[in-house]
Amino acid sequence: MTTPLEISLAGRDFLRSSDLVPAEAEAILDRAVELRLAPKQPLLPGATLGLYFAKHSTRTRVSFSAGMAQLSGAAIHLAPEELQLSRGESLPDTARALSGYLDALAVRVHSHEELEQWAHWASIPVINALTAEEHPCQALADALTMRDRLGSLEGVHVAWVGDGSNVCTSLARLGLLLGYEVVAACPPGYEPAVDVHLVRDPREAVRSADVIVTDTWVSMGQEAEHDRRIRDLDAYRLDAALLAHASPEAFVMHCLPAHPGEEITADVLYGDRSAIWDEAENRLHVQKALLALLLGV
Ligand code: CP
Ligand code: NVA
Repeated sequence: MTTPLEISLAGRDFLRSSDLVPAEAEAILDRAVELRLAPKQPLLPGATLGLYFAKHSTRTRVSFSAGMAQLSGAAIHLAPEELQLSRGESLPDTARALSGYLDALAVRVHSHEELEQWAHWASIPVINALTAEEHPCQALADALTMRDRLGSLEGVHVAWVGDGSNVCTSLARLGLLLGYEVVAACPPGYEPAVDVHLVRDPREAVRSADVIVTDTWVSMGQEAEHDRRIRDLDAYRLDAALLAHASPEAFVMHCLPAHPGEEITADVLYGDRSAIWDEAENRLHVQKALLALLLGV
């Protein structure tokens, strides 16, 4: 296996989709395809990835752990409540010490500013494993899933329906690099924190879409707003009636976890227009590619 062309991300952090330039984003996707074809290669023998997760996770944590094992490295789970950090040791001191043991650190925290603190104080690459603002590893998997199905991302129309979440922001920012355009259909107050083409009517967004994407209506940290969010977003459910306004070739993505009956119906989630399960698997392949490039192999 070779590093694609002259692209290297060695020593860099990956906090936002926009930390990449187009050739780097393309290189991650290309490398992910290579690793998907030959998953178990000793590219990172002895390397260690710390997983500092202050929020729940199934896909991100397990795909990073499995990915390191497949590359002959190891992942070390860092439960916040088990670290001296939870007894008052500072984040800078924790990051300094961890940098002496680990080759990279994946961080899932609520505040993006906290993630930036980890990146500032750690001398090893820090990867955003989700903040309230961005989920760039998810965006890479989504881009790969779309490229797999459509052949190219140039000029692809993506309709985002529902809450303009962290996932929406990262997906739209990556589109600026890779050539797809995101049109977001969101109710007032739920717009993404990124400059996208915005519409209010989800039918208008899906009409010309190649891909239709949604996310939970209640992200981690928003539990107290549950009832209001469910009420406000009710007209934005991704169901068969909405899909009927899209081209018959259009397919559906969702980062998961899904809440069938809320943002997506079960028939769409499990139906033949769902790319959601390939999308979930692609988390593994893009993150392995990202790790290989950040660690300089
Ligand atoms: N999509 C995603 O990040 O899933 P987890 O929260 O399970 O990691
Ligand atoms: N927007 C969701 C994504 C979960 C993977 C959240 O932040 O909880």
